[in-house]
Amino acid sequence: MNWGLIDRYAKSLIKEAGHKIRVSFFNNIDIDSKSDANDLVTNIDREVEQFFISRIKRDFPDHKILGEEGFGDDVQSLDGVIWILDPIDGTMNFIHQKRNFAISLGIYAEGVGMLGYIYDVMGNDFYHAAKDEGAYFNDERLPQLEVTALSEAVIGVNASWVAPNRYMDHEGIIQLVQACRGTRSYGSAAMELAYVSSGRLDAYMSMRLSPWDIAGGMIIAQEVGAIATNMKGETPHLLGQDTFIVARPGLHETMLKDHIRLK
Ligand code: IPD
Ligand code: CA
Ligand code: CA
Ligand code: CA
Repeated sequence: MNWGLIDRYAKSLIKEAGHKIRVSFFNNIDIDSKSDANDLVTNIDREVEQFFISRIKRDFPDHKILGEEGFGDDVQSLDGVIWILDPIDGTMNFIHQKRNFAISLGIYAEGVGMLGYIYDVMGNDFYHAAKDEGAYFNDERLPQLEVTALSEAVIGVNASWVAPNRYMDHEGIIQLVQACRGTRSYGSAAMELAYVSSGRLDAYMSMRLSPWDIAGGMIIAQEVGAIATNMKGETPHLLGQDTFIVARPGLHETMLKDHIRLK
């Protein structure tokens, strides 16, 4: 497999898709809801996913695609090469803010993450990594992350997950929020993963994410020494939803051991 070629191809495809998204703001955007009234999707999410799929199917007919909007393959195993795509991560931000959303893509071979990309479309910031070759913010190589104490950590967490919920012991999460330096909610899991990898956040966690939210970011995180697991400390599932936590080394252990208690 010529991974250098696939890397160049994927980068240019993502840039082209980003351009399509920026141009879409000049036209009317159709908004629908999916599982509930606040689970939003637009014609642009769908069109961008279809754009990726038509190109990948034409140029890499043996590869499979797992995409959020369901136009890709019915992927039941991690065999072969799989492109795991979120055409717009942060659709609510896309609609309400017209910024703070990303294209997220991870390319896996036999379940191993080979190439990861997160493109902040409006900021024009590109995060990418290749397995064992380091991670980059635009053209700048990202350094290995150093250990940070919880008392000095800024943690990304959605406020809705801090409210009592059926996944996690509420006292533990209150203690965590009180023990850290601060919390932030950005509304795009992929961007929050990119922020942890580039040191802008020290940790990010969620009670329920899908493979396309984390597939690209996990490869980038791995290259800078961030630890990404589910809340049981295991490798997150790439074929279904799972809990998720990514953090600097040391901090990940403290959060899981001392604060995070699943129900
Ligand atoms: C969502 C965003 C959000 C996270 C949700 C995801 P979408 O992705 O990443 O930050 O909290 O769980 O579903 O639907 O905007 O691609
Ligand atoms: Ca969605
Ligand atoms: Ca998403
Ligand atoms: Ca999405």
